[in-house]
Amino acid sequence: MVLPPDEPEEESVKPRKCRNKKSLTPAKIMEHLNKHIIDQETAKKTIAVAIYNHMKRLRGTEEQRLLRKSNILMLGPSGSGKTLIAQTIAELLDVPFAIADATSLTEAGYVGDDVENILVRLVAAADGDIKKAETGIVFVDEIDKIARKSENVSITRDVSGEGVQHALLKIIEGADVSISMNGGRKHPFGNNVMINTRNILFICGGAFEGIRPKETAKANSIGFSTEPAQKTEMQPKEKISSEDLVRFGMIPELIGRLPVVVELNDLKEDLVRILTEPENSLTEEYRELLAMDNIDLAFTEEALREIAKTALARHTGARGLRGILEDVMLDVMFDAPSARRKKKPVKVEITGEDVHEKLQRNGGAA
Ligand SMILES: Nc1ncnc2c1ncn2[C@@H]1O[C@H](COP(=O)(O)OP(=O)(O)O)[C@@H](O)[C@H]1O
Ligand SMILES: [Mg+2]
Repeated sequence: MVLPPDEPEEESVKPRKCRNKKSLTPAKIMEHLNKHIIDQETAKKTIAVAIYNHMKRLRGTEEQRLLRKSNILMLGPSGSGKTLIAQTIAELLDVPFAIADATSLTEAGYVGDDVENILVRLVAAADGDIKKAETGIVFVDEIDKIARKSENVSITRDVSGEGVQHALLKIIEGADVSISMNGGRKHPFGNNVMINTRNILFICGGAFEGIRPKETAKANSIGFSTEPAQKTEMQPKEKISSEDLVRFGMIPELIGRLPVVVELNDLKEDLVRILTEPENSLTEEYRELLAMDNIDLAFTEEALREIAKTALARHTGARGLRGILEDVMLDVMFDAPSARRKKKPVKVEITGEDVHEKLQRNGGAA
């Protein structure tokens, strides 16, 4: 028998900055999430536990590996932090991460993106390392848009997502899937490689608008209440059940594979906090950018409130904040390079009035 010559193992030579994943506790995962994600406390806590269990499973025995995967379904309006949470988790775990938009997925054979392509992207994110990809995280966004429409009056799109749901189910279930790497560097002898999805964590997200049809103001029903008014306001929403999701148009098999269901809140009062509190917050980003031009940038409280108010009016959640800031900052960014020549840092303070005026000028009709 002829043995192939020894190849140097790249892996062991490379310095690794891998964090010690074994010491990750739910509390530590939560702590990391808190640095980047404002509000959404219940969601963060639930996800922290799910991720912890996932990691436990990954390094566990064969028996433990047979435990159900803690795939996650996140429900929440646009701009509430779904994608950000998934990204933050992938970054913390230091595993390959791929995002797919469910609306662009098709059943195999149709024009569009095959579900298998999600795995191709995951392998690419793992630099072609299949083993590494097999422990990665996939985020499937807009999952609610592939709901079966027959039972769902709110969706008028003329394409049934049911086939896509079945295709997704196949990879979420944990199977050996053959994917085509299109002549990827690591596979010179064939384009098809097998990838096992058993340990890949799937996080799905969607707005699921109207999933609570009967959600009317119970609190202000007629008659008198024996409870203090404020208590009824604080009542937690009823948890979304599997039945609700099936009624919405998701196939039961898929829902069965997404055991962790979390809901994210519509961000309102928290928009101001989002501007300043997260690590590398939006305002911090601009401060740093302008510091390079010798400008010491500051925002007044009123300015922040004004920006948040605009985002709220546009119904874009936190997602709209960046665009608004971009409009607000246009003039300062334009003039900044001229200010750089001066030796002393120039103080620039953005006030509420500035925001108002600049949005009128640069932001089009807001
Ligand atoms: N809870 C949050 N905390 C901090 N920033 C947030 C939060 N939610 C959204 N953002 C900001 O808004 C942007 C868009 O959010 P994203 O996670 O893509 O929303 P979704 O996926 O729910 O539509 C993020 O990149 C981030 O800047
Ligand atoms: Mg998103």
